[in-house]
Amino acid sequence: MAFDCIVRNATLPDGRKGQDVGISAGRIAAIEPKLDAEAGETIDARSCLLSPPFVDCHFHMDATLSLGQPRLNLSGTLLEGIALWGELKPHLTREAVAARALRYCDLAVSQGLLAIRSHVDVCDDRLTAVEALLEVKKRVAPYLDLQLVAFPQDGYLRSPAAARNLERALDLGVDVVGGIPHFERTMADGAASVRALCEIAARRGLRIDLHCDESDDPLSRHVETLAAEAQRLGLGARATGSHLTSMHSMDNYYVSKLLPLIAESGINAIANPLINLTLQGRHDSYPRRRGLTRVAEMRALGIPVALGQDCVMDPWYGLGGADMLDVAHMAVHGAPMTSREAIRWTFEAVTEIPARILGLQGYGLRAGANADLVLLQAGDPIEAVRLRATRLIVMRRGRIVARTPARETALALPGRPPTLDPAAYAPG
Ligand code: FE2
Repeated sequence: MAFDCIVRNATLPDGRKGQDVGISAGRIAAIEPKLDAEAGETIDARSCLLSPPFVDCHFHMDATLSLGQPRLNLSGTLLEGIALWGELKPHLTREAVAARALRYCDLAVSQGLLAIRSHVDVCDDRLTAVEALLEVKKRVAPYLDLQLVAFPQDGYLRSPAAARNLERALDLGVDVVGGIPHFERTMADGAASVRALCEIAARRGLRIDLHCDESDDPLSRHVETLAAEAQRLGLGARATGSHLTSMHSMDNYYVSKLLPLIAESGINAIANPLINLTLQGRHDSYPRRRGLTRVAEMRALGIPVALGQDCVMDPWYGLGGADMLDVAHMAVHGAPMTSREAIRWTFEAVTEIPARILGLQGYGLRAGANADLVLLQAGDPIEAVRLRATRLIVMRRGRIVARTPARETALALPGRPPTLDPAAYAPG
């Protein structure tokens, strides 16, 4: 049998070494230790880690790369970020939003990030960002899966036009229902917004992903309502609570009651360590709370938890580079979770787990799946997280879409080797 391409001698995320991956017609046709076959193209993986692509399950592509427009966020808070975005919104044009998004997608592909769930603000009667990102979704489809969430940034009930515009956005083809209950005026309004949004998702047969309890308020209760509504309406794994940072500050007794409800409901959780470690705790003096939800405790109960990036160079976060290994690395520190098992899990939390949350078809490293692959300059997932490894090759449907030279430093030290490969630094 002949393949279009064979990637030889790869290490897989599950630990299998010396594997050959045969690719035909854009799909993985075989994974075996030694493929005895011809191929149009052969890639020598040199024992490096071959992974399915990274997936970012929480992002804001309408705001990305807008840092400094019209000014910088001086307090560093979520609320100043929302106010700042509100100042920029009337000046957005479809062309400018699309241009920023397309530039970001180039960066994402270079980092092996080939699927993104992006929230898009619907609190603008012109729906400028919605139209721009629907267009971008079509344009990038050959190389990147973009899933859009109708996000009422200024509050589904608080903003007068949000309810109507959210339905308009869904009618135009936006995929997922969004919301922001902690930004509504009262806890009761927040709960009412969760109920209304879950009903829309159930009625339309869509997924729902709510920004939930993104505050340091120990009494914020919206993920409880989301879990209960998801159960009542049978949404299950189609529902996701994002951020959940108030859980960090909640009373332990309450959490012991909340987590089993979340587990029973079957909903997913998304933590965004880069952004929430910098946004949260801003009203504290010392000690200062960390802004990460209870990742380890949710995992222990079998709740699907994934890690998202949220922001790159926008009103909320001035850094970021479409690097999901940065996200995994930060989660290890912020949670903290330093066992070998937990670090290995962070790699899954930016690949396989978010792929399931998005419902991506044909994702994974198995015969029959799409030949969407990333070759990393690392020997295993832990090393990939540790080094935020170079993406040597990024492949979409069997075609190379990005290539980066291996990192190697030339040394000029007396009596020492002339070059240094960071991935060759195993302990010892
Ligand atoms: Fe967000």
